Amino acid sequence: MEEPKRKILVTSALPYANGPIHIGHMVEYIQTDVWVRFQKMRGHECYFVCADDAHGTPIMLKAEAEQVSPEVLIERTSREHQRDFSAFGIEFDNYHSTHSDENRNISEFIYEQLRKDDLIVARTIEQAYDPVKGMFLPDRFVRGTCPRCAAVDQYGDSCEACGGTYSPTDLIDPLSVVSGVTPELKKSEHLFFTLAKFQDVLRDWIANTDLHPGVVKKLEDWFETGLKDWDISRDAPYFGFEIPDNPGKYFYVWLDAPVGYLASFKNLCESEKIDFESYLRPESDTELYHFIGKDIMYFHTLFWPAMLKGAGYRLPTNVFVHGFLTIDGKKMSKSRGSFIKAETYLSFLSPDYLRYYFSAKLTSGIEDIDLNWDDFEARVNSDLVGKFVNIGSRCAGFITKRFGSKLADEIVDTELMLSFSSASADIAGFYEEREYGRAIREIMGLADLANRYIDSEKPWVLAKQEGADRHLHLVVTMGILLFRVLAIYLKPVIPDIIVEIEKFLGEPSLSWPDIHAAPLGNTINKFIPLIERVESEKIVKMIDEVKRAAEEERAIVKEEPEEQGHQISIEDFLKIDLRVAKIVTASSVVGADKLLKLDLDVGGEQRQVFAGIKQSYDPEELVGKMVVVVANLAPRKMRFGISEGMILAAGPGGSEVFLLEPSNGSESGMKIK
Ligand code: 2FM
Ligand code: ZN
Repeated sequence: MEEPKRKILVTSALPYANGPIHIGHMVEYIQTDVWVRFQKMRGHECYFVCADDAHGTPIMLKAEAEQVSPEVLIERTSREHQRDFSAFGIEFDNYHSTHSDENRNISEFIYEQLRKDDLIVARTIEQAYDPVKGMFLPDRFVRGTCPRCAAVDQYGDSCEACGGTYSPTDLIDPLSVVSGVTPELKKSEHLFFTLAKFQDVLRDWIANTDLHPGVVKKLEDWFETGLKDWDISRDAPYFGFEIPDNPGKYFYVWLDAPVGYLASFKNLCESEKIDFESYLRPESDTELYHFIGKDIMYFHTLFWPAMLKGAGYRLPTNVFVHGFLTIDGKKMSKSRGSFIKAETYLSFLSPDYLRYYFSAKLTSGIEDIDLNWDDFEARVNSDLVGKFVNIGSRCAGFITKRFGSKLADEIVDTELMLSFSSASADIAGFYEEREYGRAIREIMGLADLANRYIDSEKPWVLAKQEGADRHLHLVVTMGILLFRVLAIYLKPVIPDIIVEIEKFLGEPSLSWPDIHAAPLGNTINKFIPLIERVESEKIVKMIDEVKRAAEEERAIVKEEPEEQGHQISIEDFLKIDLRVAKIVTASSVVGADKLLKLDLDVGGEQRQVFAGIKQSYDPEELVGKMVVVVANLAPRKMRFGISEGMILAAGPGGSEVFLLEPSNGSESGMKIK
């Protein structure tokens, strides 16, 4: 029976506009994209919206460090994010920004509704304040010694050594990450959203929503602890929306971030003439789903439904929560070579491999998913290449060469065909439930059956037998028909490969009901190899590249003046032996994008130094220049050789790094006082 047409709005979490997309993020975008593609193939009206999460202190400070406006930073980052998403086949219906008019309007509207209903209260609180920078410090911008275990250099909200959580005021010897000074405590009036008033609404929503048991359990813990008022305002300077009736106060980034889902959809509705309000009405017949990671559950299952209710809107139909990505069972790490940016992955491996691998491992649960590169290679090669594509390549050649590229006009094994098409309900059920791993197991089981069918019919033997032409035609047609059904089943997961199969079959945009319609007698096109085997060397090269970039980054960070470091005493400063040096030779370093190797003359003594200035200077223009070098720095062993000093430079980084050049008349070796 045909399912009635549904109207579905789907979101993935909005990535922060101050960092690149990495493969950890991709778990969620792939999970959501597969689900959305599946819904669209089933004929439902489904919109998938997202945006960059553009506000907050980290973005403001990053822009400042790069000496650009936050607007310039978020614009550039959004372009990079969209480039990566699109390369991975993530097909948003709209990608917007939380720094947009739509978002300002809806955020203000929601706030005003809450305010009108006395759901916002003002209260004075005391917070860490950086007197040099003139700003209040978010917890993560205060570091100090853990009050629990005395580990040094820990964040203001939690300790990485003992796992303890506390407030920045508990830290021993706290320092501002921004200017390095000891923060003061300063009072300020903040606005709070009275979450506890929504206790019954939330309990009711939870009881009537098909949340995963893992999510419900977490929610029960939170109810047990008690719902607390939520601080939704931040003081200037802050990059965000100023609160209408509170000059100098801004909405906390997490207030307007989820509103960004609606803002992006509103933006789409305006261009596509979709009825926005019909998706927001409390009794709406539309469905609203948020895909998120387990770290942001509190925001999406408590604050967000409460905000929606307070504004008079509908609540989410469900919130789908996934776990984190681990690599070989561990957190992603730059030095282990497992912190892989989407862009880096794409320059070595195909996006559909990762889409397939993640899908094969995804369930509807909140447990972490693990990536192991040997397993990745084995899975992709054995399933996609060895089982799936193999079916097409075993049969297509006969159709082209022996039968004028035409499929036969009959299904020879109707029973086998039926077992393929009747799996459709189970497979659809698995996709719908986000049990992609089970869907893939089912599909690969069918691929095994198809290969077994070809093995037993032996078309290569039939091809040599006299009078077996008709049977050969029927057998290889059968193989192609089975291949086609599998392609439809796999289409949400590996869309790029399936586009090629559609071209081969001459059937553009296959959708779910096509499973039941065999294109008998159709002319097919030449079969081109649709996917290459994963080569382990490519994986090795990718990991090497990640490690190399991490090492280079470490070298460069160390060479940059520590703008946000701690204070040192004058005695410490006097220990630094600054000398004038002359650059004798300068050359690029094989395998490093940012480093140059410099041979320096420091008063008759030769020194080799690696400096992160390649993007700012051509080696040739450096020869003969006088520079300032830290001459008594302990030599450091780097992958490229030993670095025996550090030259001084200033600037925001990238192509804007300027060497400090001593004035005329200085000679190499001279001590700088
Ligand atoms: O955790 C994060 O990366 C946030 N930028 C997610 C925001 S999701 C939504 F609420 F906007
Ligand atoms: Zn600790």
